[in-house]
Amino acid sequence: MTQSLTFIAGPGGSVQGRLRVPGDKSISHRSIMLGSLADGVTRVSGFLDGDDCLATLRAFRAMGVEIEGPDNGELTIQGVGLHGLKPPTGPLDLGNSGTSMRLMAGLMAGQAFDTELTGDASLSKRPMRRVTVPLGRMGARIDTAEGGTPPLKIHGGAKLEGIRYEMPVASAQVKSSVLLAGLYADGETCVTEPAPTRDHTERMLAGAGYALRRDGGTVCLSGGGRLAAMTIDVPADISSAAFFMVAASITPGADLWLEHVGINPTRTGVIDILRLMGASIELVNEREVGGEPVADIHIAAARLRGIDIPESLVPLAIDEFPVLFVAAAVAEGRTRLTGAEELRVKESDRIQVMADGLRACGVAAEPTADGIVIKGGDGFHTAEVDSHGDHRVAMAFAVAALRGDGPITIRDCDNVNTSFPGFVDACRGIGMQITTA
Ligand code: S3P
Repeated sequence: MTQSLTFIAGPGGSVQGRLRVPGDKSISHRSIMLGSLADGVTRVSGFLDGDDCLATLRAFRAMGVEIEGPDNGELTIQGVGLHGLKPPTGPLDLGNSGTSMRLMAGLMAGQAFDTELTGDASLSKRPMRRVTVPLGRMGARIDTAEGGTPPLKIHGGAKLEGIRYEMPVASAQVKSSVLLAGLYADGETCVTEPAPTRDHTERMLAGAGYALRRDGGTVCLSGGGRLAAMTIDVPADISSAAFFMVAASITPGADLWLEHVGINPTRTGVIDILRLMGASIELVNEREVGGEPVADIHIAAARLRGIDIPESLVPLAIDEFPVLFVAAAVAEGRTRLTGAEELRVKESDRIQVMADGLRACGVAAEPTADGIVIKGGDGFHTAEVDSHGDHRVAMAFAVAALRGDGPITIRDCDNVNTSFPGFVDACRGIGMQITTA
C-alpha cells in the first residue's frame, strides 16, 4: 500500500492578506455535464481541476466528448447535443465523487447504451437508492450492489416517463439526478424539495436556454428540448472559502479578503451560522457572474459564542460542518447541531469522525444521532487525528491548529485534492504554518 499524505499543522500562524480559492466544485461538475450535452462550443473559466471534477471530465471524454484543458482553469467543450454521447469502452470510474455518480445516474438512464459507474472505497459505501428509486419510477433500469451501493449498472434504451417526485431528503444531488433524467423523459418531471438545496443545476439549465418552471419548493421541466452552448465563469467555491472564514474568525489579529466567492443563497448557510456566532464577515462588491451571485468577502478575528444552529440552515451549510465544528470548539459556551443526519453519509461519517478528532484534541464533543454537541473552550491540544480520507475533515483540522498548543498531525490527506488542489500553498500564502509528510 502506498503511504498516504500527512499534514502537520502548526500553531501560532497568522491569517492575513488576500486569497482566491479554487473554483466551485458543484458548478464545475455541471459545466462538464451540460457543456457536453449542449449544441456547440461551451467555454468554461475558473474550472476546479480537483480530482472529483476531473473524474467527471474523464467520464465525458470516455463517451466521445472532445474537451480541451483544463489549462489554468479554462476548458473548451465541443458539445455533442443531448443524444450525441457514445458508449464508453469500459466502466466509468468516478473516484471519490458522489456528485458525479448521482448526477450521472440520471443522465445515463436516458442514454441508448449501457454504462457502469464505479468509485473508490468511500464512494462504494455511499447510498445510491436515493437516486435509483426515483429513476426507477421513471422507467430507468439500474442495478446496484447489495445494500443499494455502487457500482451502478445502468441499462440503456429505457423509455423514461416524467414523474412528480417529493424528495424524502433535502438533496441537490437527488434533485439534479431526477431533473437530468427528465431531459430524456416523455412529459413533465417535477421535483419537490423538503427544504431549499443548491440550485446550480436549475440555474445552468436556464442559462442554456432550457425552459424550467419553479413554484415554491417545486421545479419542473419537460423532456425533448435542447441545450444551447454557454460561457461559464465558475466562481470560487464558498465551501473551500469556508475554511478560511473560520481560520480568520478564530485567529487573534486576523484580517483576510476572499475574492470572487460564489454567494448563491442556497450555499451561504456558513456565513449565516458564523454571523450568529458573532463572526465579523462583510460582503463587498456583490455582483452577478453568468447567473451566479459573487462577492469579495472580508473577515476579521472575532469572539465567537456557541449557538443552537437553526435546522433551516443545515442544508444551506451541509458541506461546511467539519470546519464549523472547529469554530464551535473555540467559541464561548455550547454549540448544538440537530437535524443533520445526512452528515453521516458524506465522504466519511462526519459526525463520528469529527467527534473522534475533536476529542483527540481535548475538545468536549458529544455525537448524537443527527448532530453533535460541542462545548467551546480555549483551543486544541496537540494530537494526531485521522481524516478517514475525508478532504473536508483534513482541512478542518488544519484550521484548528491555529488555536493549538502544539501541532496537529492529520493522517490520510490525499483526498484534499478532490476539492482543493493547492490547499497547503494557499494556507502558507496567508501565514498559516503547515507542512506535509
Ligand atoms: C452537491 C450536493 C450536496 C453536497 C455535495 C455537492 C451537489 O450533496 O454535499 O458536496 O453538487 O449537488 P447532497 O445532495 O447529498 O446533500
